[in-house]
Amino acid sequence: MESVEKELKEQIAAVKADMQNLRNIEPAKRGSEGARLNKLKTELEDKLQTFYRDREERELNAKLERDPLIDITIPDINAKHGGLHPISIIMNEVEDVFSQMGFIIEDGPEIATEFECFDSLNCPKSHPARDMQDTFWLSDGRVLRTQTSAHQNYMLKKYGPEFRAICPGRTYRNENVDATHDTTFFQVEGMMVGSDVSIANLIYFMREALTAVFKKDIKVRLRPGYFPFVEPGFELDASCPFCENGCPICKGNKWIEFCGCGMIHPKVLEMGGVDPKKYTGFAFGFGLTRLAMMRYGISDIRLFNSGNLEFLQGGVR
Ligand code: FA5
Repeated sequence: MESVEKELKEQIAAVKADMQNLRNIEPAKRGSEGARLNKLKTELEDKLQTFYRDREERELNAKLERDPLIDITIPDINAKHGGLHPISIIMNEVEDVFSQMGFIIEDGPEIATEFECFDSLNCPKSHPARDMQDTFWLSDGRVLRTQTSAHQNYMLKKYGPEFRAICPGRTYRNENVDATHDTTFFQVEGMMVGSDVSIANLIYFMREALTAVFKKDIKVRLRPGYFPFVEPGFELDASCPFCENGCPICKGNKWIEFCGCGMIHPKVLEMGGVDPKKYTGFAFGFGLTRLAMMRYGISDIRLFNSGNLEFLQGGVR
């Protein structure tokens, strides 16, 4: 204990003892003597507090002089920063493009019932279309969704009979993995339903969306395609965003296969609670992972889920 502190503590103790003795002095002097002692005690206690504050400050200053200042709230300028995964970047972009065109952004569950993934999409149990997509079945009879189309029935029930919505998300297929096929990849489902929605609307929105994503005028064309949940069904091609006369990306074709699409099958509308006699709609489903590959020139789909830091930093393509 420092001497100042010791002295003050002794003085306070002495005043407290005098206060105890007040009862032994003449009653007439007791009041004024009590007030004097009280004032003195307060002054001494204040001095002791001031001493403690000064000592704390002195100690802190001495410590700051000894050690460099460490402020754990200052960001480490040498730290490596994380960034968004290429899939997240492209998904944000696609969501922006479609929401600017009035589409709701929906988020569906990755585990779907058999009804959501197949039956509600006009694929009954015996239908060969169930074998078109190799399915991961769960022990309780549900599936890891093979397609974002599994969310169509939910969207129809939730928003029908007049809406536009997209549902981007992860999908799973029990496939042999190679440079362009993975077991886990992303798709984007799109739907528009209304009283006079037509193929012209489908073409318009796909062209606008692709033009916005590639920041270049993109043409689209339709070829017949089979999906049990659309009638008529199409494969939609986009004009190659990278060339005019053929390049390795479009394999010299000038067109790139982009997605499956079509007019929503009347049975699908019906199962979603929408009257197919009054309403029509289009649906499309494209591979977001394939779009990211195209957009960033990524040659091997396996890189997306590899955790390869060089790839994530843009070094490996
Ligand atoms: C479908 O999944 C349909 N649900 C699309 C659809 C929706 C058609 C609405 C009509 C109406 P498909 O099996 O072709 O279709 O897959 C769509 C896209 O997912 C493909 O064009 C491709 O880009 C992507 N894809 C499919 N399998 C894989 C895979 N194993 N790895 C990466 N991408 C894949």
